[in-house]
Amino acid sequence: KILPPKIKMMRTVLFLLLLKTSACCGFGFKGCSLNFPMTDVIWCFNQNIANLTEVVSMLPDNITTLNLSKNKIRVIPPGAFSQMLGLKRLDLSQNQLVSLKGGEFRGLGVLECLNLTCNNISHIHSHAFDGLTGLQTLLMIHNILATLSLSIFKVNVSCFPALEYIRLSNNSKLELQADVKSVTLTPTGSSL
Ligand SMILES: *[C@@H]1O[C@H](CO)[C@@H](O)[C@H](O)[C@H]1NC(C)=O
Ligand SMILES: *[C@@H]1O[C@H](CO)[C@@H](O)[C@H](O)[C@H]1NC(C)=O
Ligand SMILES: *[C@@H]1O[C@H](CO)[C@@H](O)[C@H](O)[C@H]1NC(C)=O
Ligand SMILES: *[C@@H]1O[C@H](CO)[C@@H](O)[C@H](O)[C@H]1NC(C)=O
Ligand SMILES: *[C@@H]1O[C@H](CO)[C@@H](O)[C@H](O)[C@H]1NC(C)=O
Ligand SMILES: *[C@@H]1O[C@H](CO)[C@@H](O)[C@H](O)[C@H]1NC(C)=O
Ligand SMILES: *[C@@H]1O[C@H](CO)[C@@H](O)[C@H](O)[C@H]1NC(C)=O
Repeated sequence: KILPPKIKMMRTVLFLLLLKTSACCGFGFKGCSLNFPMTDVIWCFNQNIANLTEVVSMLPDNITTLNLSKNKIRVIPPGAFSQMLGLKRLDLSQNQLVSLKGGEFRGLGVLECLNLTCNNISHIHSHAFDGLTGLQTLLMIHNILATLSLSIFKVNVSCFPALEYIRLSNNSKLELQADVKSVTLTPTGSSL
């Protein structure tokens, strides 16, 4: 949806104000802030974050949305989010991830939406998505996945019992395979 510029500006000002407040009044977490008035939504958008462990260790465990979009994260250590048992939306878009080696999302059993759009991911280990039994939407637009990486979605669909929607468009190495650029699964996750 498109907002009039005035409202957009007001939202930006409010956001900046909040950031500033958070720095002074103690609900800021190393560049991250609560998306007031919600206390379960954390914004870490565009904060130059490179060390994920450092940031996550300062956040409350009971959050449902974590937005880490537009940072400098290259690596997600195994189990990095494992204490956030209620996390439903995780946005890691616009970072510098190059591969998923396995265990990155361990413990995120109720995660519904994972956004990995605009990274440099070229390799996905077969155990990378282990534990994501509640995942419904996986966005991997604008990476450099090759056809080979797609096999992970095909090998064992039962690993993603809830997956309904994967977007894989604009992956440079998939360009030749127009048919696999965007995959829509049936609600039962059985159509791949
Ligand atoms: C999360 O826990 C903190 C204290 O650790 C509490 O202040 C806050 O209200 C809790 N948030 C939710 C959404 O339960
Ligand atoms: C990231 O931060 C953690 C905790 O402060 C530290 O133990 C670790 O060495 C850091 N990792 C890198 C790659 O700097
Ligand atoms: C994270 O923040 C970016 C930038 O504001 C926004 O485009 C994106 O939709 C947010 N993601 C979530 C899950 O709210
Ligand atoms: C996913 O990330 C892209 C790029 O940052 C953003 O435009 C989009 O709003 C995000 N979508 C969701 C559902 O988080
Ligand atoms: C991906 O890698 C290329 C080459 O190393 C680099 O120029 C580009 O900025 C990277 N993109 C992202 C989103 O990290
Ligand atoms: C698929 O996953 C299920 C549950 O983890 C497992 O029982 C089954 O052996 C796996 N099948 C293959 C072909 O790996
Ligand atoms: C894919 O890339 C093209 C050219 O860069 C762009 O026009 C298009 O909007 C992109 N599609 C998506 C889904 O990001």
